[in-house]
Amino acid sequence: MKDKEIDNIPSHIAIIMDGNGRWAQSRNCPRIMGHQRGAKVVEKIIKECVRLGVEQLTLYTFSEENWRRPVEEVDYLMNLLQKFLAKERKNLVENNICFSAIGDLGRLPKAVCQELQKSIEISCKNNGLKLCLALSYGGRSEIVDATKKIAEKVALGTLNVEEINHSIFKEHLYKPDMSDPDLFIRTGGDMRISNFLLWQISYTELWITDKMWPEFSKEDLHDAIADFNKRERRFGKTSAQIKVNSKIS
Ligand code: IPE
Ligand code: IPE
Ligand code: MG
Repeated sequence: MKDKEIDNIPSHIAIIMDGNGRWAQSRNCPRIMGHQRGAKVVEKIIKECVRLGVEQLTLYTFSEENWRRPVEEVDYLMNLLQKFLAKERKNLVENNICFSAIGDLGRLPKAVCQELQKSIEISCKNNGLKLCLALSYGGRSEIVDATKKIAEKVALGTLNVEEINHSIFKEHLYKPDMSDPDLFIRTGGDMRISNFLLWQISYTELWITDKMWPEFSKEDLHDAIADFNKRERRFGKTSAQIKVNSKIS
C-alpha cells in the first residue's frame, strides 16, 4: 500500500529528540533507561527516513548546554553514543547513508571522536540519506564561530566587508552544504528551540508533539509529514501569490 504522505516528503527534517528522562521517570525508572530506549527509536526513525526517501535528517543528540547535567548522566550518554555509533555503522553502509556530525566535537571524549571519524570515513562516498548528528552543539556558538572565521578573512584582506551576505555567511557555518530544514520536529511538548540550528530554521515549519522521544513512532513521523503537507509556505509573500505560482509550475 502506498503511504498517504509519500508524495511530498520534506527534503530536510530536523528533530529535537526530547523527553527521555521524563518518559523513564514516569515509569519509576532512572533517566538513563529513557536514553537507552531513545537510542532504539533513533535507529527506527533513521530507517524510516531512508525508506521514505528523506534527503537530510539532522538529529539533536547532545547540546552544548547538556554538559551542565550531572556527570553520571553525561558519562552514560557518552558511553551510549560510543556504542550506538559502533553498532549503527553497519546500517550506514547497508542503507547508503552519508554520516556527519556538527558541534564542538573537540569537547567529546576521545573514544567518541574515534567512532565518529570511522563512521564519517566509511560512509563519505554514500549518496543516500545525509544523516547529521548535532553533538555538543549550540546554534549561538555556530553563529559566533562563523563570525570569527569571516572576521579573520576580513583582517587578512581576503574578504571585503561589502561581500558579506547570507550566502557567504552560510558558507562559514559548520556544514555549509546543509540546506535549511523544511520540517522541525520536537518531542516532549516543550515549545522552544533550545539553541538548535538558529540560523538554519528561520523559515522551517515547526511541529511539536507531547509524545516523549522513547514512544515516538513511524506513524508519528508520518503524521508530522502529513501536517507539513497541509501548510502553505509563504516566505513573506501573500497566499494569492503562492497559489498563482503553484498553478504555473
Ligand atoms: C533528551 O531527553 C535527551 C538529551 C537531552 C540528551 P532529556 O534527557 O532532555 O529528557 P527530559 O526532557 O528530561 O524528559
Ligand atoms: C534539547 O533538549 C537538546 C537535545 C534534545 C539533545 P533539552 O532537554 O536539553 O532542552 P531544554 O534544556 O529543556 O530546553
Ligand atoms: Mg529535555
